[in-house]
Amino acid sequence: MHALVKYPDTERYAHCIKASKAVRWDIETDVVKGRSFDLSRKYLPDGLSLVQEFASLSDAEKRLVSQIQGRTYANIFGLVERFITAKLLEIGRDHWFGDQNALEALVRFSDEELKHQALFRRIEAMVAAIMPPGYRFDIDPDAVARAVLSKSTWAVLVLTLHIELFVQNHYRQSIEPDGELSALFKDVFLFHWKDECQHVMLDELELKRHDAALSSAERDRAVDDFIALVVAVDGILQMQAGADAAYFCTICGRTVAGTEADGLEKQFLKAYRWQYIFSGATHPRFQKTLGGLITEGQFQRIEAALATLT
Ligand SMILES: [Fe+2]
Ligand SMILES: [Fe+2]
Repeated sequence: MHALVKYPDTERYAHCIKASKAVRWDIETDVVKGRSFDLSRKYLPDGLSLVQEFASLSDAEKRLVSQIQGRTYANIFGLVERFITAKLLEIGRDHWFGDQNALEALVRFSDEELKHQALFRRIEAMVAAIMPPGYRFDIDPDAVARAVLSKSTWAVLVLTLHIELFVQNHYRQSIEPDGELSALFKDVFLFHWKDECQHVMLDELELKRHDAALSSAERDRAVDDFIALVVAVDGILQMQAGADAAYFCTICGRTVAGTEADGLEKQFLKAYRWQYIFSGATHPRFQKTLGGLITEGQFQRIEAALATLT
């Protein structure tokens, strides 16, 4: 007779499966619901777009900035979820045999990230249909995923945890009372957030499981990999801030040049760094989880790297 093997974290994986089933949603019937976007509403809340700091712009221009940033939000998530899905499928191999709750939880997680990619492609297409031509997002998700996956698994899992935690921050920003925010975009934040809550638990389980197998020297190199990934993310944000500021100048209906144009690009970059780097890096749960894995010196190395991105 075979004894049933007891796996230490199996209840936690089972909890994630239960949560995944409870919140299961559909792109068309739960999120889009036959609606479309219109250009009279903001797409990102002020707490994310930082539009109040775009001091030279009128209210209508600030709304346009939030719409461009909303479109970029959809594209950036379509990008990061490509490598997250690939990494989950890769580490899911560790659970082929053994704890089947862990395997199911990771399969569901991968499936949900595929759905998120589809959601954000849908959002990009809907926004593209109503915004003037000229928007550019020239970053290839597959090329980014290949580059990210060339780094250590520890670093990719830390980056993933960071992303899933900032999605939670973004949802909190989006539920601020804001009569001008698109109801459809608000629902995109809401439904994405529902999945990310259980994903964060899985990120932490997988990160701790993987971390336990590393030597001190391997972990130290992985910290460098994580810093390199954050710097690479910043490179993408710099490129997109330039593209989005140029798009704004082309479609805003007046001449924007010189110091105003330079200032706009800086503001776009500041907003993107807040959305995709600092709203995660400053998240208390991220700091606590990461701090529990690395030394004070390694933590300071990461903080020093982040400090250069301002
Ligand atoms: Fe996601
Ligand atoms: Fe996720």
